[in-house]
Amino acid sequence: MSPFLLTRTLPEDATDAALRADVLRGLTGTPKTLPPKWFYDAHGSDLFERITELPEYYPTRAEREILVGRSAEIASVTGARTLVELGSGSSEKTRHLIEALTGLHTYVPVDVSESALTQAGQALIAERPGLQVHALIADFTAALALPRTPGPRLVAFLGGTIGNLPPVERAAFLGSIRGLLSPGDALLLGTDLVKDEEVLVRAYDDAAGVTAAFDKNVLTVVNRELGADFDPDAFDHVALWDARNEWIEMRLRSRADQTVKVPALGLAVEFAAGEELRTEISAKFRRDSVSAELDAAGLSLSHWWTDSEGRFALSLSTCR
Ligand code: AVJ
Repeated sequence: MSPFLLTRTLPEDATDAALRADVLRGLTGTPKTLPPKWFYDAHGSDLFERITELPEYYPTRAEREILVGRSAEIASVTGARTLVELGSGSSEKTRHLIEALTGLHTYVPVDVSESALTQAGQALIAERPGLQVHALIADFTAALALPRTPGPRLVAFLGGTIGNLPPVERAAFLGSIRGLLSPGDALLLGTDLVKDEEVLVRAYDDAAGVTAAFDKNVLTVVNRELGADFDPDAFDHVALWDARNEWIEMRLRSRADQTVKVPALGLAVEFAAGEELRTEISAKFRRDSVSAELDAAGLSLSHWWTDSEGRFALSLSTCR
């Protein structure tokens, strides 16, 4: 069998239909919203890579520190023979885990980006002869069908991306992950933690303006894909801490009264001066909230690791 297989579960035009539906719903609702998944075209993915290197953006470094320190323990506790990674991107942080998983038979990276999957998959095979890579082009928030590979399975969802889902979708998502697991399988979940408000806000509103450019990039995506005429300079990037919900919100605030046309949807959208478009929530967690959410999905937290400064956590849980 070839060490590299690629399965497309997303029809080529599914992305376009989903974008239209999201933009229509988001720009005609009150308040206006756009879901964060549309940040990540090639330019947006580049900007995100730059964010992960910013002095203010600690989550990537904190999570890497945990993976470097704990991969051997994760490997011995799980004994995983199949590693499924949701939203694998460049698979950069996961390398530590893959190296530690000495009994690994198949790596299943799941991402919407075919180019990221192919690049990361081929590089891994070169480094680890004998490893099967079965990449899935899929939207991990939709129902997943995993290839039949040997257990135990470890499903990894890193980066704190679970925080980008609102609570109701988060519960559904964890439930669907639970459905992928059999007894003896495990979930490795990365969650950013509640901390000082200034530290959090700075992480989402950096001095160099990279996050502002990333935020505005969603407007460029809608312009290109749906023929809209957003002027990114007519909006200001805003990051704020919602203390009640314990999440960071990113918004784009209209600098003036303006009308934006979205020809592909036959829409003309009015923005009042000061009106805000919500582009992302990034929830921050506590050990108790993670444990409770896992519990509600039929998963039991077994291990909890944080970085040395207690900023970010990796948790391991198993199904009941
Ligand atoms: C790592 C994708 C979860 O919420 O921190 C970074 C994305 N948004 N800066 C996060 C993001 C603004 C991010 N995720």
